[in-house]
Amino acid sequence: MKKLTLLALALIIGAALFIWTGVYNIGATDKHWAVTNDLIEALRERSIEVRSEDLVPPDDIDDAARLAAGAANYQEMCVTCHLAPGTQATELHEGLYPQPPVFYQNDAEHDEHGLQSNFWVIKNGIKLTGMPAWGGSHTDDEIWSLVAFINRLSVMSDKEYQAFVAEGKS
Ligand code: HEC
Repeated sequence: MKKLTLLALALIIGAALFIWTGVYNIGATDKHWAVTNDLIEALRERSIEVRSEDLVPPDDIDDAARLAAGAANYQEMCVTCHLAPGTQATELHEGLYPQPPVFYQNDAEHDEHGLQSNFWVIKNGIKLTGMPAWGGSHTDDEIWSLVAFINRLSVMSDKEYQAFVAEGKS
């Protein structure tokens, strides 16, 4: 018991020194170790999964009107970080760490689980990453439209992208 108390004390003092000396580089230019990355990824995956697995996507998730609505919002709020077919990489996209995923370069369309977790992420954001929470300013229905749209981005040409955006804005 005494040994355990000493160990706990040593850990607390070690952690306090680690913070106080400023030895940790918080800069986005100083990349995580591979093992830290793996741990953060596992934490994020599980955290999102347990919170999103019971969500039910609406039946009309693939409706053209929904895609158009999602496109207009995507162009307005997401494109500077997540890019779109026919756009150049932005300075914001390049400078962020972790880098925002580029949906139109994903190989495959997301599966059902992807729809649910994407909804949860768009609504709640992700701490310490730059991914904002949009749930305070947008309804669930608007967020499902964004989910529907990014689900289709990987198979979209520049022209189709522009057409969806134009339709959504009209
Ligand atoms: C300021 C930059 C920024 C903006 C604006 C932004 N995002 Fe993100 N987003 C990020 C970052 C960074 C991540 C990656 C977080 C991570 O790696 O944990 C992310 C992650 C995501 C993910 C999770 C993807 C995955 O594969 O796990 C989704 C979905 C998403 N964003 C959708 C959107 C949508 C939709 C919008 C617009 C309504 C948007 N984001 C606006 C920065 C941004």
